[in-house]
Amino acid sequence: MLSAQTPLEQLTPDHSGEIRGSYWITTFGCQMNKADSERMAGILEKMGYQEAEAELQADLVLYNTCTIRDNAEQKVYSYLGKQARRKQLLPHLKLIVAGCVAQQEGEALLRRVPELDLVMGPQHANRLETLLNQVDTGQQVVATEELHIIEDLTTARRDSKICAWVNVIYGCNERCTYCVVPSVRGTEQSREPEAIKLEVQSLAKQGFKEITLLGQNIDAYGRDLKTSSSTQKNKFSLKDLLYYIHDVEGIERIRFATSHPRYFTDELINTCAELSKVCEHFHIPFQSGDDQVLKRMARGYTIEKYRMIINKIRKLMPNASISADVIVAFPGETDEQFKNTLSLVEEISFDQVNTAAYSPRPNTPAANWPDQLSEEIKVSRLKELNILVEKIAKKRNERYKNQIEEILIEGINPKNTEQIIGRTRTNRLTFCPKDPVNGIKYQPGDLIRVMIKEIRSFSLTGVALNQ
Ligand code: SAH
Ligand code: SF4
Ligand code: F3S
Repeated sequence: MLSAQTPLEQLTPDHSGEIRGSYWITTFGCQMNKADSERMAGILEKMGYQEAEAELQADLVLYNTCTIRDNAEQKVYSYLGKQARRKQLLPHLKLIVAGCVAQQEGEALLRRVPELDLVMGPQHANRLETLLNQVDTGQQVVATEELHIIEDLTTARRDSKICAWVNVIYGCNERCTYCVVPSVRGTEQSREPEAIKLEVQSLAKQGFKEITLLGQNIDAYGRDLKTSSSTQKNKFSLKDLLYYIHDVEGIERIRFATSHPRYFTDELINTCAELSKVCEHFHIPFQSGDDQVLKRMARGYTIEKYRMIINKIRKLMPNASISADVIVAFPGETDEQFKNTLSLVEEISFDQVNTAAYSPRPNTPAANWPDQLSEEIKVSRLKELNILVEKIAKKRNERYKNQIEEILIEGINPKNTEQIIGRTRTNRLTFCPKDPVNGIKYQPGDLIRVMIKEIRSFSLTGVALNQ
């Protein structure tokens, strides 16, 4: 097997100077897909492709797809229709579907859209070059078999120069009854701690300041590892990984997502409180505020357990921000059970909640249950919840008013070029005037102190102080 230390140039033919054409990637779905897209863009650039100026000008179009809900899947087909028509006029166009719809549909996608050149599941993202070479021999290629994910050897082409995603565990071994992820992302595979640290060190050298460790169930990190790092009695866990990478010089902030309440431990909370670079922001989906619904979702925790986690976080880190995901109108959810979700949102006083109406997905148990709820109930519950979430978030943001927050500058606000844009440690988007009173110009990557003056539900505005 290739080791993570093997120099890139020994492994990948260097096509520098040779321009093969232009590429366009559209990414749907979660951070995992965004991270995969950045790696695939890195592979394409290494192969000699350049980013196209517009989708309709590209010689290679790649859709990295999501199938978490039906509307996400349908969106892909409408995008594909447009490109399929384009390919009839431009036969050299390469058309690729990657990600979760590719994994779910496999060969069926080729029947539905015969113009496709390549259908590749998420575990094959790092193999893009090999797969494209097969396409070049004139074949239509489908790559969806379960794989041991090879260590990432390509330099990702990252969208930000300041904040980077770092995959630490792929796949998911849970079986939440509504969720398609385990069937499209495969079983859990943790990356070796040494490989993760090397990536973080290399990011620091390139000037990145913030990293977000990624996994669908990040609390499962390490349970499948069999290496020297896990020779201790207890397996090497997320907590150990945080200690292991914490001192990488140059990295100022560390985040991680997504946490699962079933596996979220007190030791992890203690670790976050103790390690100064780990930011006080926790994304812990609760999915429903009702124990019966949680049971039918097979989530493996109760609301009481969830409360205890939040209480412990707030005891050690009173200003921590808490965000979550929730589903409304799960099959059989009664009015009363829905009200329990509303009450929990109010009680916890979340900083942000991603809300969704239940959508039946292929190969998931809940999709076949008889007690599906009507579209009308879905729409009205979602609306009621969204109004509450926004109100609570705004109220919760009041704690920032006239407070001094540390902001990591990410760049210029694209909607108002007089402002810089950054985030608090708690992940709140913050704007502030570009030209400070003291005349010092700020650069992306700078950590500055900002006095917060205006609050909205999901963002803040402030003024930079003398640093
Ligand atoms: N691994 C994360 C979530 C991954 S999917 C976790 O365990 O919480 C992201 C979110 O999509 C989920 O948190 C859930 O709220 C939502 N989701 C997943 N399946 C869904 C479905 N069938 N219908 C509606 N929302 C869904
Ligand atoms: Fe889906 Fe549950 Fe796994 Fe999250 S933990 S990805 S909701 S199966
Ligand atoms: Fe979507 Fe796949 Fe992520 S289904 S949410 S892109 S894991």
